[in-house]
Amino acid sequence: MVAMAASAALVAATTVAPAQEAPKAFAQCKACHKVEAGKNGVGPSLFGIYGSKLGQVAGFKYSDAHLKFSQQTVDEAFLTKYLADPKGTIPGNKMVFAGLKNPDDVNAVIAYLKTVK
Ligand code: HEC
Repeated sequence: MVAMAASAALVAATTVAPAQEAPKAFAQCKACHKVEAGKNGVGPSLFGIYGSKLGQVAGFKYSDAHLKFSQQTVDEAFLTKYLADPKGTIPGNKMVFAGLKNPDDVNAVIAYLKTVK
């Protein structure tokens, strides 16, 4: 997995990765999130996250701020805002991540999350 992240970084930016392979931008997420079911790290597992509601991963202790948004579905509209500006989208949440500044990275990560199920 570490080797994968390293080799992904060597791939030219113009290369379009197959949807099921993590895009380069997802390397930042991997510091805190695993994509295997039931494996929580600093952040909750992202397995099956697309299309589910926020704050539902078993065994993960969410912040109260995050749980205020538990009626929110993890869809394209939400992720487009949240991944670009986590703190602005859910004020006070404990995901210590500034956000993805490049919209292409946001779209690539969303496309990838759809396949993680
Ligand atoms: C420094 C660690 C860290 C990084 C980096 C990080 N996250 Fe998170 N993420 C968290 C934590 C912690 C939470 C839970 C927030 C809370 O409870 O306030 C979270 C929550 C989430 C959620 C909501 C999950 C749920 O079950 O409600 C999604 C989706 C998510 N992160 C996606 C990402 C993506 C995609 C990236 C990379 C672009 C990323 N995160 C980067 C720590 C991180």
